Amino acid sequence: INNSSNGRREPTLNTDVDDPSHPLYHHRRIVTDFDYGEILGEGSYSTVLIGRDKRTGKQYAIKRLDKAHIVKNNKVKYVMIERDALSRMNHPGIVKLYWTYKDNRSLYFVLDLARNGELYTYIRRLAPFDLETAKFYAAEILLSIEHIHNRGVIHRDIKPENILLDDNSHIKITDFGSAKIINENEKAASNAGDGGNTAAPARSFVGTAEYVSPELLRSDVVSEEADLWALGCVIYQMLSGKSPFKAATDYLIFQKIKNLEYTMPDEFPPAAKDIVERLLASEPEKRLGSAATGGINAIKEHPFFEGIDWEHIFTSTAPPLR
Ligand code: ADE
Repeated sequence: INNSSNGRREPTLNTDVDDPSHPLYHHRRIVTDFDYGEILGEGSYSTVLIGRDKRTGKQYAIKRLDKAHIVKNNKVKYVMIERDALSRMNHPGIVKLYWTYKDNRSLYFVLDLARNGELYTYIRRLAPFDLETAKFYAAEILLSIEHIHNRGVIHRDIKPENILLDDNSHIKITDFGSAKIINENEKAASNAGDGGNTAAPARSFVGTAEYVSPELLRSDVVSEEADLWALGCVIYQMLSGKSPFKAATDYLIFQKIKNLEYTMPDEFPPAAKDIVERLLASEPEKRLGSAATGGINAIKEHPFFEGIDWEHIFTSTAPPLR
């Protein structure tokens, strides 16, 4: 959308990649390359549909974003960040972005299809998970977070709704619309920049109230450790059925997070209590997995994860969810 009918220049919204060194440049795709089917989900700016590649028959999740709506609501930079962050990722635990294309009305992101839907649904249905199941999912989430951070990105909205399950019930993390790209050097080439997101700490609140870290509420600089706080919340939720800082309003949730006001269920095994307590450390520097505590490896070595085969977890059989 460049020159609108009123003659004013609107912000450009074009996720095409013009740089041949960019991984998304090759094998360009267009709207008519796919058949479109069932709607998988709807957000305020996008709809996710099943798409089938007419040539290969392979199915994808295709995220269709409404250009006019995005421009009108000043969400252009988030769309660019989502594309740039996703295109840096190459990991079995993260939804892969295959191609982007557009038509007059919409932008399209072609993503891995995660047929078993959100971890959230399974927590609602089945929690508390048994320890083996919670450990398995916590381990897959941790490895995926490690990859995200290694590729210079903070997700900033890790929660069960954004953790999808594929055909084999392994995880695929999605929704990089709140992400922050940290490492400018590693940044994938982009024709639109990142909208200034790598400059000062973000002012406005991004993410979801229940999983927001205390440092964000104190408006400290948000770093990788924010995703580890969220992992602590998700482990708690898998083992108990509810998130640790639940309340009637976002304001009350924020109060509880600031005051570290949560109760540890008596029935949690000791190692689970310990890892949750260490991940829910108010100061990011003291949080398990921070650089000062030994990084992600310190989390992998925690007794909660005893017996996890980190090398082979994504090719192993997932524990039954029923
Ligand atoms: N809903 C949103 N994204 C999805 C995906 N990649 N697969 C399945 N359902 C989804």
